Amino acid sequence: MCGIVGYIGTKEAYPILIKGLKRLEYRGYDSAGVALINDNGQLSVYKTKGKVSDLETFVTRKDISGNIGIAHTRWATHGEPCSVNAHPHYSSSERLALIHNGIIENYALLKEKLQAKGFTFRSNTDTEVLVQLIEYIQVNHRTSLLTAVQLALREVIGAYAIAVIDREDPDVIIAARKSSPLVVGIGEGEFFLASDATPIVEYTDRVIYLDDGEIAVIRRGGALRVVNLNNVECPHEVQRVAMDLGQLEKGGYPHFMLKEIFDQPACITDCMRGRINVEGTNVVLSAVIDYKERLLAANRFIIVACGTSWHAALIGKHLIETFCRIPVEVEYASEFRYCNPVIGSNDVVIAISQSGETADTLAAVELAKTRGAFIYGICNVIGSSIPRATHTGSYIHVGPEIGVASTKAFTGQVTVLTMLALTLAREKHTIDKDQYLSIVGELQKIPDKMREVLQLNDRIAQLAKIFTYAHNFIYLGRGYSYPVALEGALKLKEISYIHAEGYPAAEMKHGPIALVDTEMPVVVIATQNGLYEKVMSNIQEIKARKGKVIALVTRGDTAISRIADTCLELPEMPECLEPLIATLPLQLLAYHIAVCKGMDVDQPRNLAKSVTVE
Ligand code: G6P
Repeated sequence: MCGIVGYIGTKEAYPILIKGLKRLEYRGYDSAGVALINDNGQLSVYKTKGKVSDLETFVTRKDISGNIGIAHTRWATHGEPCSVNAHPHYSSSERLALIHNGIIENYALLKEKLQAKGFTFRSNTDTEVLVQLIEYIQVNHRTSLLTAVQLALREVIGAYAIAVIDREDPDVIIAARKSSPLVVGIGEGEFFLASDATPIVEYTDRVIYLDDGEIAVIRRGGALRVVNLNNVECPHEVQRVAMDLGQLEKGGYPHFMLKEIFDQPACITDCMRGRINVEGTNVVLSAVIDYKERLLAANRFIIVACGTSWHAALIGKHLIETFCRIPVEVEYASEFRYCNPVIGSNDVVIAISQSGETADTLAAVELAKTRGAFIYGICNVIGSSIPRATHTGSYIHVGPEIGVASTKAFTGQVTVLTMLALTLAREKHTIDKDQYLSIVGELQKIPDKMREVLQLNDRIAQLAKIFTYAHNFIYLGRGYSYPVALEGALKLKEISYIHAEGYPAAEMKHGPIALVDTEMPVVVIATQNGLYEKVMSNIQEIKARKGKVIALVTRGDTAISRIADTCLELPEMPECLEPLIATLPLQLLAYHIAVCKGMDVDQPRNLAKSVTVE
């Protein structure tokens, strides 16, 4: 939620900040702003409702010079999206400007105290309270900006990544982090600051990830200092980041989401690289081997996640229970952390998160750690908070995902969960050799099978036109396909704003069937696997009520094509691997319906990709 960028050096800051904001726009896009100090020491704040492109229009013919600046793209928490509530926020005298990602939970109390001292506020935000408080301390205690920030943050309850500049000291940016991510890039005589490394990588590959409670003092021409709220120096490690810049561009596709859907064969190859041997006979997830005893000694696994990652977790449960015979519970991270879970040192908690920053998932990890559980992370963004908080884990290695609706991260998560289950099952001797070899062999073929499935794109684009005016959709699946149905429904909701429900096919009789009429499209995953006959009966029940059935079937199926309105054929696949290909047509269907409806596919309303607030 909210993207932060900062620059200090010898170059013009504005172009760097704007480009950075565009890279971070996936984090929030209801308003955007920039603060710059020019060579005459003037601090200017420009901000507007809307996207980064609206900000660019807004600053036309304004003074955007200066080689120090901070910028922000917002996902509103406190105060509606409008230019007044957009960041940066000025302090009372307009000497300071501050940007913030997170929530100051006790802002109302702090605001009351400041109001009692005569302060007035321009916006409804928690952020303005913080910048006013910092200036109040700076002036009344006659302290440096750094000390004022330290003292102010000691009064703050909540989550923050902040950056603040001071027109009285135009050579420094002070940045601080607690529970919201912040990365400092170290260049030649220049520094960059951002919520993740994507705005930084084209200028430098040397970064430091701030830890909670740390403050970076970024001074032009000086060395980077990192201190805590008590001004004690914090040792920090400079890390190298490698990122393919092409992955941050649309590469000829009209939307990131479509590109990322089509990237999946290559991403899954990257995900499996070095983990499956070339002969396709062995899969090794090094973290599983390294912590084999701990994992095998577990009473049970608990998987915590949110959104799409939670759907991947449901598939992970099937895989681990089937192959490893270890009981698995799947919890919404947001519920888990507040339900006083019964959890102890014999439990293993697997946290799944594309961004590695989701506040609820991170909090669930911290809670489980305090109860002694062993924590395994499955994340995409390298160096993000969740991997740093876990005992071990596996990255999914699918590259940066920019489209807000998750696609390639989902298949990457499911691929890692499959490799985890297979590695552990082999160590536990709960899978027979032939079955193991067959599944590993089939897993290796997934990228090619994905390519085959993606050839359905044109057909699905045509099909989408018929359903553009639908108000509701039902998605049905059983077993491994049930989470796929949930994911298909979520994709449609997120980007086309059509109401959609995912259901286990057999549960349809217990409620959703009442909704079926001639207007109701029902997407059914009806491949020739374990429960094929039963799913066929469910399709008959829908057709008897005149619903419109779109069925995903195994290539060559003739029985379902006789009753369904539309069939989309998938290559043959063992049931446990089917989610890896069956999800793709559902991603494409949601995408094309949203495009037909003229929706903003990559930045759907009200959503943000990285949910760093509760
Ligand atoms: C947000 C995103 C979803 C994502 C969820 C969990 O809601 O819009 O696409 O699935 O967060 O994110 P995570 O980064 O933890 O996987």
